[in-house]
Amino acid sequence: MPRSLDLIRRKGKSSVSKKGEEDEISLNGAEKEVEIPKNNIEEEEIMIKPLTPPEKSAVLAEIDDKGGLYFEAVPLVEMVFENLRLGSKINLGAVNELAGAFIESIRRNNSLLVKALFHKIDKFSIVYHSINVCIFSVKLGLSLRYEKDEIEKLALAGLLHDVGKIFISKEILIKPSNLSREEIDTLKQHPVLGYNAILKSLGEEYLWLAEIVKQENEREDGSGYPEGLRGDGIHEFAKIIGIVDIYEALTHQRPQRSKFTPFHAVKMIISTFKNAFPTHISKALVGELSAFPIGSFVKLNSNEIGRVLETNTLAPLRPKIEILYDSSGRKLHSSRIVDLNDHSILYITSPVFFNEKGFFEVEKDEE
Ligand SMILES: [Fe+2]
Repeated sequence: MPRSLDLIRRKGKSSVSKKGEEDEISLNGAEKEVEIPKNNIEEEEIMIKPLTPPEKSAVLAEIDDKGGLYFEAVPLVEMVFENLRLGSKINLGAVNELAGAFIESIRRNNSLLVKALFHKIDKFSIVYHSINVCIFSVKLGLSLRYEKDEIEKLALAGLLHDVGKIFISKEILIKPSNLSREEIDTLKQHPVLGYNAILKSLGEEYLWLAEIVKQENEREDGSGYPEGLRGDGIHEFAKIIGIVDIYEALTHQRPQRSKFTPFHAVKMIISTFKNAFPTHISKALVGELSAFPIGSFVKLNSNEIGRVLETNTLAPLRPKIEILYDSSGRKLHSSRIVDLNDHSILYITSPVFFNEKGFFEVEKDEE
């Protein structure tokens, strides 16, 4: 369907859900079956008027970046994975250099984040998935204010978190239908396989890394694997990588489903994995990787458009908003501040952004 700039037909698709109805979707290609609430957004038409874009923001310039650094990482990560698969010794010098460049870039702007979210990959690739998880982990780590050397460790762990999967057959990894009990058991060996591979190729000096890789699927409430660890028994970085691993899977297409917008991915994670991650990490995910981080634009059910001023720890989907445009798309002479937490009747229906022609566009899930 051709998409007009001022009229966007939004189809209710999967995403979030009708009460009481549940659907199973497979995360991470085939990693773990989780129950995700499903919601059928009614088909509706949203009129978005042409508006004056904000002063030429850095956003477009960032998106213009051709993503050289992102693509440079691919052969390097492939080579490291291959050496780990063969059990060869590895010098991590180049990888550490790459991690450092990633951190600097993510500190400066969102170009790597844009690549990690929107670079289209034809089929599931552990290499791209790992690079994306590394980028999202660094973004969260920076917001949690870790020291430089800690962020470097987090980046390396994000890059290698799924290395155990190189020992799992492709038939299981990219199987488009549900896995059998036996196949799930095989897949669940990947954290331990990764642990062993890291120790073999990198030695005891990297025991910390092997431990994080082994714990990435453990959950705060003890519901994870392989050991069912809880709370403080799990390395903080394993928790960060664990949450962005799910986020990465949801925001990318898999053989059995379409991708979700960051907005809906975060919403699902918050509602479905309530006790699986500590609050400060869920909060960092909402603040940094949902579609409405501070400064971003959102559309309310009143059709008004505003800018996010403050996120809300206790109710992360109900931030404080500065209303800038009325329900007809007219710019308000004086803006109005609304704390969605105090106005239960109002809620965010969608993130919106300025496209390159200066129109507001609704972010939507892929068809
Ligand atoms: Fe993963």
